[in-house]
Amino acid sequence: ADKGLKDYYRKYFPIGVAVNMAAINGPEAELIAKEFNSVTPENDMKMGPIHPRENEYNWKNADAIVAFAQEHHMKIRGHNLLWHAQAPAWMFKDSTGKQVSKDVLLKRLKDHITTVVNHFKGKIYAWDVVNEAIDDKPDNYLRNSLWYQICGEDFIAKAFEYAHEADPEAQLFYNDYNSEVPSKRDKICKLLRNLKDAGVPVTGVGLQGHWKLNDPSLQQITEAMDKYAALGLKLQITELDVTVRTGPPRKAGDQTLTDSAYTETMAAQQTERYKAIFEIFRKYKKVITGVTFWNVSDRYSWLDFRGGGIAGGAAATEGTSRKVIKAYPLL
Ligand code: XIL
Repeated sequence: ADKGLKDYYRKYFPIGVAVNMAAINGPEAELIAKEFNSVTPENDMKMGPIHPRENEYNWKNADAIVAFAQEHHMKIRGHNLLWHAQAPAWMFKDSTGKQVSKDVLLKRLKDHITTVVNHFKGKIYAWDVVNEAIDDKPDNYLRNSLWYQICGEDFIAKAFEYAHEADPEAQLFYNDYNSEVPSKRDKICKLLRNLKDAGVPVTGVGLQGHWKLNDPSLQQITEAMDKYAALGLKLQITELDVTVRTGPPRKAGDQTLTDSAYTETMAAQQTERYKAIFEIFRKYKKVITGVTFWNVSDRYSWLDFRGGGIAGGAAATEGTSRKVIKAYPLL
């Protein structure tokens, strides 16, 4: 019958998708329910959107996404509890505008994580607890974020401890991009090894997977998975999409790739790429506990910035997952 990717992959791992309000309320909702058995809110659980002021939480969108997922019997990944981006400015300042102390910031972090994790307790099976804390530059270890400037390294372990205290059942992930690049990969391994040695409750590593057609290489992906698995950690691919752009990653303000510039050749190359990476994922089914696409279709994904999702463009009539299905005789 008309199966979705989630059905073909039932004996491997859950297949997820990042969603926003437009996606669950618009014409893509049907595709989402058919292809996927896991969701991640694309933005609505991040600190800024969900906790815009010290004494104000905004649960509306996140609750709607959770309700949609439950209605369709989908698992839910929480994303995320701590990030340098989309963090509200008030978090780091006192009422006079002065930067807060480490004690104050950790107290606020604890309040935030406790409140948010508690709110969704029993509904969210896995959280991205700390997002992108490692620096990309080979010579630096941690990213020089406000979290780091104010707290030093401690905020990372604390975030995991607060989350675990609030929901001991939830699986807790460290999530990052370029996590296959050897220099960054080794720093992520170092961080996770340190956390494990210190008894910090961390379940695994999220590899975001914002990838290009040939980069990272299949070998880099495999090597990274081996290294993370050797630490005794679980792996999830948390934000998979494949850009057809060849230059540097897009930045805010870059020109968008128009629909007419998106050729059949590009679509075929993406399909081949998905085929190759899913072949690897299947081999690692013992350590991979979830694969999530970032948006329903890479035709409108954040990575290529084509239309900025369905809010700015047409709805996807065919999801990225169809490319994966087409790449195999899956039946
Ligand atoms: C992105 C969203 O897709 C955009 O809508 C938003 O404007 C910026 O954030 N790494 C992450 C995700 O962990 O949260 C980011 O999501 C993409 C990069």
